[in-house]
Amino acid sequence: TEGIVIAIDGPSGSGKSSTSRGVATAKALRYLDTGAMYRALTWWMLQRGIDVSDPTAVAGAATTPTITMGTDPAAPTVHVDGTDVAQAIRSQEVTANVSAVASVPAVRERLVALQREMITEAREHTSGIVVEGRDITTVVAPDAQVKLFLTASQEARAHRRSAEVHSEDVAGTQEALALRDRLDSSRALSPLTQTAEATELDSTGLTLEEVIALVAGLAEEAR
Ligand code: C5P
Repeated sequence: TEGIVIAIDGPSGSGKSSTSRGVATAKALRYLDTGAMYRALTWWMLQRGIDVSDPTAVAGAATTPTITMGTDPAAPTVHVDGTDVAQAIRSQEVTANVSAVASVPAVRERLVALQREMITEAREHTSGIVVEGRDITTVVAPDAQVKLFLTASQEARAHRRSAEVHSEDVAGTQEALALRDRLDSSRALSPLTQTAEATELDSTGLTLEEVIALVAGLAEEAR
């Protein structure tokens, strides 16, 4: 039988990563964080001194580095040309510049192709995969058995993200989140969009365990 594909989209700080990893662990599925791929490419470009505000420069470098993703939900990994960048891609510098890189068509073309390859592999050879991002339900895997749009109030998202990055500056975090969401939702190509085909799940008043249980239930129904 074919493996299941669970696609999860949503804005920054909505709890996508914790939820996706939790569901993948609970259901013994693979896990793919597509945001980490855009971050990895951004990290490499910043490292090289490429002007990430110049779409032509970004497009020219989009296919150069090798990006390798480890899909074990207990220990997901990201390598760029063999370098482990799991920590480095969470820096403020990468976070502030990733939306610009992700808006360039050549970047999306390359990373979406890579994502689809990994999904096909998981579908054909494993029990399945949980994929999280901004355009998974709409562009990368619209044929996924489970499609979710995860949301949470701006306040809840800012508090979670502040705790994640150990920042006391919740207001500043909320502002940075709002800016990134605006950029990700307004870009021309594959913007973050909520469609009728995706089930909306608002996690504001729920614990992580409750959200994971809800999604695992949807996966059971879809089998
Ligand atoms: O999920 P995360 O916050 O790590 O994503 C980082 C950035 O990567 C997003 O702000 C967005 O610009 C980009 N991204 C995207 N499409 C995806 C996943 C992430 O454009 N599927």
